[in-house]
Order: sequence, then structure tokens, then C-alpha cells
Amino acid sequence: MRRKLLLGNWKMNKLSSEAKEFAVQSKPLVALAQKNNIDLGVAPTYLSLATVKENADKGMIVAAQNVHFKESGAYTGEVSIPMLKEFGIDWVLIGHSERRGYDNETNEKCNLKIKALIENGMVPVYCCGESLSTFEAGQTKEFVEQQIRVGLADLTKEQVKDLVVAYEPIWSIGTGKNASVEIAQDICGFVRSILRDMFGEVAEKIRILYGGSVKPENIKAYLSCPDVDGALVGGASLKIDSYEGLLKNIL
Ligand code: 13P
Repeated sequence: MRRKLLLGNWKMNKLSSEAKEFAVQSKPLVALAQKNNIDLGVAPTYLSLATVKENADKGMIVAAQNVHFKESGAYTGEVSIPMLKEFGIDWVLIGHSERRGYDNETNEKCNLKIKALIENGMVPVYCCGESLSTFEAGQTKEFVEQQIRVGLADLTKEQVKDLVVAYEPIWSIGTGKNASVEIAQDICGFVRSILRDMFGEVAEKIRILYGGSVKPENIKAYLSCPDVDGALVGGASLKIDSYEGLLKNIL
């Protein structure tokens, strides 16, 4: 059985003071989640990672939204894996469509980051998903397959067992135009079939999340799909009431 995972992606939102307030308020939710075999987490900005880690329950997953694959050096504006580890951060989102779109994050670059994270015993949440034009052209599966095969190239079965994959169709992100439950299951199931082809049985252990306009009202339907093991939530994860609603609706 795969444990359910609810992960909030705060993107470029919340001052550190606001992140701290959320972290304190989220404390009772972690115990509730754990009692129900659900992992709960958030991905704040770099500047709020330490405060969320310090003020949230120890069981709360605190993820960075990006990382560089080199340990140190002349990479202005970047943050490395050892820097995250020093703060006890061991989860990182990789390849979010906003980073792919605005920051030229390629599948090859994601692969370097994922390999570096796994070598450091950290958990990458590898994001994939197609644009509206790719979706309308009926090319979602070819596109996502390429993202998975290149992003996860040169990894072994052993290495991918703790990996998380998130399928987020770009046309559904922040648009309120969420993918149907059928589409979510179809593509998440497809992703698992590619993982099975690449890594064998361990694919049954890898958690696959759906993301894109997930709200307290629709989260349950997504999580009832056999291949959807959780959700990566943007907007609806920002307010504690709505975050609590997401959790309570999947207990
Ligand atoms: P929304 O939930 O705001 O659509 O964002 C989804 C997302 O990009 C999470 O990573």
C-alpha cells in the first residue's frame, strides 16, 4: 500500500512571518494526517524553509522548490544540496512547469538534479505535465513519457524507490480548469506503466501525485483513482483553513 501524500506548493507566496504563522497553526493537522496514514507537507520559498521547519510539527515534510545540482561554486543566485541539508530539508520539487517555462529547466537539467538529490539520500518530487497545445494535439502521453524517461535516466531500481512523481497538466494550473478524474487516472496510470518499464516492480512503490486546481471540494475524487496517491496543491494550500479542508476531505 502506498501512503497518501498531500503536498502544498506555496510558489512565490508568503512572507516568512506568514509562513511561521501557518506552520504553528498546522501542528495539530500533522498528527491527524499520520493517524490516517497520510504524509503532509509544504514547499515554502527558500527564505521560509528554516522557520517552517522550526515551527511546524516534526512530522511535517518541508520541501524546497528547487535546488542546484552542484555542491558549491560560482552559481550566483543558486542554492545547493548541502545548504538545504544543513537546515534539515530533504525533499525538493524538481521540474515544476513554472521553472521549466520561466527558467529554462530542461529534462536533462532535472535529471542532473534528481541524481544529485538521490545520491544525497534526499527525496525529489519530479513534476511533469503538458501544455494546452500539446493536450489539444493529443500528444500528452508522448510528451510526458519523454519527461519521465529523460528526467529519470541512469537511475537504478534501488535509487527510485522513494522518488515521488507529480503529474500537473499546465493548462490546469491556477486556472480553475482542472483535468477530469478520468484524465488524471489515465495519465498517472500511464506514468506508472513507464516507470514499470524502466524500473520493474518498484514502480508499484513510487507515489504519483496529481496537481492542477485541486481544491477541498475535488481532492477526494482524484485520490479515489487507483494510480493517484496524493496531490500537489498550489492556491488551495496557502490558507490554513483550505489546507485543513484538503486533508479532512481525504481522511
Ligand atoms: P494550483 O493548485 O494553484 O492550480 O497549482 C498547482 C501547482 O502548480 C502545484 O505545484
